[in-house]
Amino acid sequence: MPNRKTLVPFRGTREQEERLRAAIERHRGEPGATMPVMQEAQEIYGYLPEEVQIMIAEGLGVPLTEVYGVSSFYAQFTHNPKGEVQISVCLGTACYVKGSGAILERVCRKTGCKAGEITPDGKFSVDATRCVGACGLAPVMIVNGDVYGRIVPDNVDAIIDGYLDGKK
Ligand code: FES
Repeated sequence: MPNRKTLVPFRGTREQEERLRAAIERHRGEPGATMPVMQEAQEIYGYLPEEVQIMIAEGLGVPLTEVYGVSSFYAQFTHNPKGEVQISVCLGTACYVKGSGAILERVCRKTGCKAGEITPDGKFSVDATRCVGACGLAPVMIVNGDVYGRIVPDNVDAIIDGYLDGKK
């Protein structure tokens, strides 16, 4: 799991907390309840900050170390918030030889966000990833789940602009 600098404070709402407490109630006492509750928590909050891990541990009566261990082990969980616009640039070998390093530089310049970080306003998060399995499209950039292939640095600004102000 990339170690993103968490600059955005936890801002859970009452409604999110009620949904999490309901999930805990539903699974409490089941063997292996930790995993499904954590999956629901990640759906509710988008990530698993320490505050949420504590609620899960206390609610299920399991050690916090167990919740932390599971959330660190499985790649599906993240401890850090994602931006409204989530950008990943593949730095796998095929993408790298086709210039994804320059794509990442351009993304960072455009967003003001380094790889592995989120901007303080929560607008952008940027990740450098390993091969995402689309080498035929190298170099690859993914924005909010949309895959862009065979791009050049000059494409980056327009692609990102397409996600601003609720355009996508
Ligand atoms: S190396 Fe980028 S998709 Fe495989």
